[in-house]
Amino acid sequence: MRERILIAFILLMIVSGSTARAQKNRIDEEGHPWWQHAVFYEIYPRSFADSNNDGIGDIPGITSKLDYLQWLGVDAIWIAPMFPSPQVDWGYDISDYYGVNPDYGTLKDMDELLARGKQRNIRVLLDFVSTYTSDQHKWFQESKSSRDNPKRNWYIWRDGKGPGQPPNNWTSNFGGSAWKYDSTTNQWYYHYFYPLQPNLNWRNPEVEKSLFDVTRWWYKRGVAGFRLDAVDVMFVDAGFRDNPVVGKGKNAFGDPMEHEIYDKNQPELHGILRRLRKVADEYNGVLIGETWTNDIAQLKAYYGENGNEVNMPMDFMFTMINRLSPQDFRKQIQWVDGSGGWPVYVLSNHDIRRVYDRYGDGQHNDLIAKLMATLYLTLRGTAVMYYGEEIGMENNDPKRPEDVKDSMGKLGWPKEKGRDGERTPMQWNDSLNAGFSKATPWLPVDDRYKSYNVESEKKNPNSILNYYRQLLSMRHTNKALLDGKYVALNEEDPNVLSYARNYKGQNVLVVLNMSCVTRKVSLNLASKGLQAKSARTLLASYNAPSQVDPKEISIEPFGAWIGETR
Ligand code: NOJ
Repeated sequence: MRERILIAFILLMIVSGSTARAQKNRIDEEGHPWWQHAVFYEIYPRSFADSNNDGIGDIPGITSKLDYLQWLGVDAIWIAPMFPSPQVDWGYDISDYYGVNPDYGTLKDMDELLARGKQRNIRVLLDFVSTYTSDQHKWFQESKSSRDNPKRNWYIWRDGKGPGQPPNNWTSNFGGSAWKYDSTTNQWYYHYFYPLQPNLNWRNPEVEKSLFDVTRWWYKRGVAGFRLDAVDVMFVDAGFRDNPVVGKGKNAFGDPMEHEIYDKNQPELHGILRRLRKVADEYNGVLIGETWTNDIAQLKAYYGENGNEVNMPMDFMFTMINRLSPQDFRKQIQWVDGSGGWPVYVLSNHDIRRVYDRYGDGQHNDLIAKLMATLYLTLRGTAVMYYGEEIGMENNDPKRPEDVKDSMGKLGWPKEKGRDGERTPMQWNDSLNAGFSKATPWLPVDDRYKSYNVESEKKNPNSILNYYRQLLSMRHTNKALLDGKYVALNEEDPNVLSYARNYKGQNVLVVLNMSCVTRKVSLNLASKGLQAKSARTLLASYNAPSQVDPKEISIEPFGAWIGETR
């Protein structure tokens, strides 16, 4: 008897131990961690919701909209930098990693957001801006104070090539040389972006330790992970060699075009990512990468061997397809889907023009918004939405140079107008300032807000918002959409992009007409070993019949159709 009790006890311990571990890793029965089935939503905190009516969005504003996000079907939010910052690059110039910018609230507000998010199963991710700090960060202030300051080597300092000449030819992403001369110590410091954003020296282990500790501190506070900012430029060539100049052309800033082989994508960055991932794993955190890549090999590298680097490297090559081209999308999807890592799709963000007018033709923009949503929300992978895309927000670009708020636009005007246009206030209702704030917002609200806003669209069953909501709900519940493999269909069709998501005999079919005329499509399922005599319409952006013959689908201009066969 005692033996039996002992065995039962041991079994209980084993079972409860593995349950605890499973819970910690939150991996489902098919091996998917939570984030693979989640929908992420990027929030630009300055523009989302203003709780204290000063014209600037804030953390309590975000908290007040959690019910909306839950209603929509969002599982996790990534908040663009909300840390103390002089705001020369709107938060991407951090002066203290352990706080909240007073414009946005307090640490207590963050705790409240985390707690309220938890109640609604909405996880919160922050932006890990670790490639550089603000020049106002105390580390840089110390570093620049003298050549022998203990923090000197925390940043990248070099002698010039000669009087008034920077150490090499590297240019900044915001225009001009990437080096700034500092007369106090007669050396130059490196900044890939704005001169007030000095790059940290990641070859220094003290930098690594301090920044990793930042993530630990926030994990302990309850954040679920980080979006890793600008990882591709974390390291530069140890020999500081000049980049080759390509051709005689100039970029929007008037700088020579360079082949960025020495200031980008250095192999050392993968070591950092592996170690950062280890820290994340200790806290069950997830890392989303701002991973700009030129090809699939680079993207693959970000996943790491056996997936030991970035959990979710965003595929920005997908966002670079700036036309409704089935061929281009097919090729990109095939690459990413076949990369071996879990795909991560994005349509736009605070740096990338809004999808509504990027693909819109001026006449069918609402339909095209639904078309693009259907595309990236029915693919195998995780989607990262950008606030406002679900209501069809468009870019509202500055018209005059004096209105520009983005440093990039200030430096690059008129060729480069900057990114203000995709960062305008969220449109909540048709009242003054779209319900974002009672005060004049920091960026102008788009004129179309009277019809394109959450409140009005909620009431309209055919709105972009309700379409998104249905898509998200389907994505969360339909096994084929969750786990089905991607099967390209009718691959020669130049106008209509079609594919199946196949899961153990269950198929979801997706047909997307990327042209402005009605198309007839006969899906060749047999060639892919799939069969179906008829399909039930799950969702369509036009009035589609409830049962459809996959051999005879008629799809309206820019129409999106999703059907299910069994
Ligand atoms: C990447 C961020 O996404 C972008 O908004 C910012 O301007 C650059 N990092 C430089 O800080």
